[in-house]
Amino acid sequence: MIKERAGLDIIAPYKAAKNHEAVKRESGIENIVKLAGNENRLGCSENVIKIIEKHKEQFSFYPDMNCTILKNKLSTIHGMKEDNLVFGNGSFELISLIALAYLESTDESIISYPSFGWYKNVTLQMNAEPVIVPLKEFTVDTTAILNSITKHTKIIWICNPNNPTGTILKERELKEFIQKVPDNILIVLDEAYIDFVESDYFDTVSLIKENKNIILLRTFSKLYGLASFRIGYGIADEDILEKINKVRLPINVNLLAQKAAEASLEDDKFKNLVLKNNRDSLNLYYTELDKEGIKYVRSNGNFILIYLGIAGAVSEKEFLQNGIMIRNASEFGLDGWIRISIGTFEENEKVIQVLKKIIHTNR
Ligand SMILES: Cc1ncc(COP(=O)(O)O)c(C=O)c1O
Repeated sequence: MIKERAGLDIIAPYKAAKNHEAVKRESGIENIVKLAGNENRLGCSENVIKIIEKHKEQFSFYPDMNCTILKNKLSTIHGMKEDNLVFGNGSFELISLIALAYLESTDESIISYPSFGWYKNVTLQMNAEPVIVPLKEFTVDTTAILNSITKHTKIIWICNPNNPTGTILKERELKEFIQKVPDNILIVLDEAYIDFVESDYFDTVSLIKENKNIILLRTFSKLYGLASFRIGYGIADEDILEKINKVRLPINVNLLAQKAAEASLEDDKFKNLVLKNNRDSLNLYYTELDKEGIKYVRSNGNFILIYLGIAGAVSEKEFLQNGIMIRNASEFGLDGWIRISIGTFEENEKVIQVLKKIIHTNR
């Protein structure tokens, strides 16, 4: 037996939502709608399909390691310099790169709970110490985070909107928090779901212009429906990106991912369709759940957290028997809760029907 690196033994492998094709094979259920991974059920822009065909002559070449065209487009969209952008194989990779560039074994990183699980994994991978701060009323507790800062704190991970709760920090609270964090601590604002924020939210890119210790993370996996391509990006001061680029794999974003992302940015019609479906669907959930007196958390994401008061494993199994994959939120420490990704309007209607049935038979 070859001994692994010190510290690896305490890391549990990341538990992502199961792949629906695998679930189909295992369960023998043919028609399964996956609403467990916060993916886009409307697919992606038609532009993407066209652009793939158009680039087939280039499949045998290495792609542009700097994502130059995409970088140029996004720098215009965000009003930032190209040097303020870095791309990753999904924001998963960017989270890993941040840890690799900044965390040492004597460092602590502050993580809300429940929140996105990868922050803890990457902290442990670097032999650093995760400091877990519980949410308050399903929302990131900025006061408790500030109270948890020590001289060892190196990174604070903020998922905004937070997965799996869908809550967001108000502009004033976020800005006051940032001001109070010492500037030798890196604040990671993971904004995977920022496009879905319900009310008028401020443009968080402005934070980068005023603060040199923040990195914003965005992804093409959610609003743009490009999860299978694996592409996300970070926006930060040049100094931070210089460090991240030192540990980045030379060609980490493949050609199709770059082209698909470029093409998606051109399609406002698809984007608006997704946002409208998300808004209408959440409103449908709110109305129906209120009617039934079922507790839920209002969401700023493409998912909703609902309290059924039934063991998550039971709900998960019963939803699956009805052809729907949902996420058992006890995996995130929320017993009796489930997280359901927004589907098409018809899929959501079916979810609500099944949900009522499950409640009536199990309560
Ligand atoms: C909060 C959050 N951050 C990052 C990611 C990773 O996204 P990507 O597909 O860009 O790697 C996810 C995926 O679900 C997420 O929920």
